[in-house]
Amino acid sequence: MNVVVLGNGAIGSLWAYHLKRFSTANVSIKTRSALDTGSANGTYACKNNFSFTSSHGLSLQIEYTLADQHSLQNADLIITCLKSTETASALNGLSHLLSNNVDIVLCHNGLGVYEALNNELKLNNRIYAMLTTHGCFRASKHHVIHTGLGHCDLGLLTSPADKMGDKENQQPAWLEFLNHSLPSVYWSDDIKAKQWLKLAINCVINPITAIHKINNGKVAENVFRQQIETVAEEVSIAACTQGIQLAPQDIVSTSLEVAKKTSKNTSSMLSDVLANRETEIANINGYICELATKYGFSAKANQSLFEQVKSLSA
Ligand code: PAF
Repeated sequence: MNVVVLGNGAIGSLWAYHLKRFSTANVSIKTRSALDTGSANGTYACKNNFSFTSSHGLSLQIEYTLADQHSLQNADLIITCLKSTETASALNGLSHLLSNNVDIVLCHNGLGVYEALNNELKLNNRIYAMLTTHGCFRASKHHVIHTGLGHCDLGLLTSPADKMGDKENQQPAWLEFLNHSLPSVYWSDDIKAKQWLKLAINCVINPITAIHKINNGKVAENVFRQQIETVAEEVSIAACTQGIQLAPQDIVSTSLEVAKKTSKNTSSMLSDVLANRETEIANINGYICELATKYGFSAKANQSLFEQVKSLSA
């Protein structure tokens, strides 16, 4: 099996490490810089290294192959582990190289990426979404640490009509292979609902932590309660426009639960702000604002968070 991982950040490296160590797959990585510099179509394949510290504290040097044109053309599976803001343009830019038989897994925070893929990909390829709860971070440019074991949920977003089967046939053959390399990967028949729940949690925790430069735990403090309730109301209406039932009080309670469980963590959005990187706000609260414009409901609380985070990174 030929697997290309797009992105060499924490989650991309996590998958590349586990597939290399625990499967027989040919794994290659398309790094962010290769995508940025437009060498995405490069015809060279060369080796690179990174060091990976497993959740058991074991550190290993991993040699990986940089994906070239040949690996992309012959890929059976592409796992995209890029930011939500980068994923669609990266895939659209590579789509002319990809065969119709390659399955594509989108692994990112937020929503709105699938919609931004070009029709060539949406009509020809099976597109899956994967959500992960693994704790992982890039300690330095070439060192990734797996801080907490989690799991992944995988589900089908769409499939070309001729590849559509009944529900049981939707589970790809490579699910077991991923599950064996980095357990556990669970199949989900309602991945869209899971994406929405994660989006709702991110709409609450990420901007508040980024704006106030606080760890996740502080979000559960009373001072934010009113604001969180309004954000949750708006997210619930947005979810409803997409056929997803998410009660505002469930969004509030789940977000506070996650904030408490991850109380010492720095959210991905705060990490981006601190490192002066672009945030994923456009695909988180920004996505709610887009739906508000499209369907004509008020999303003032999400709009305000969106603008405040935008001004932080401007
Ligand atoms: O984006 C993140 O950091 C995480 O999804 C979450 C849930 C906010 C916890 O840190």
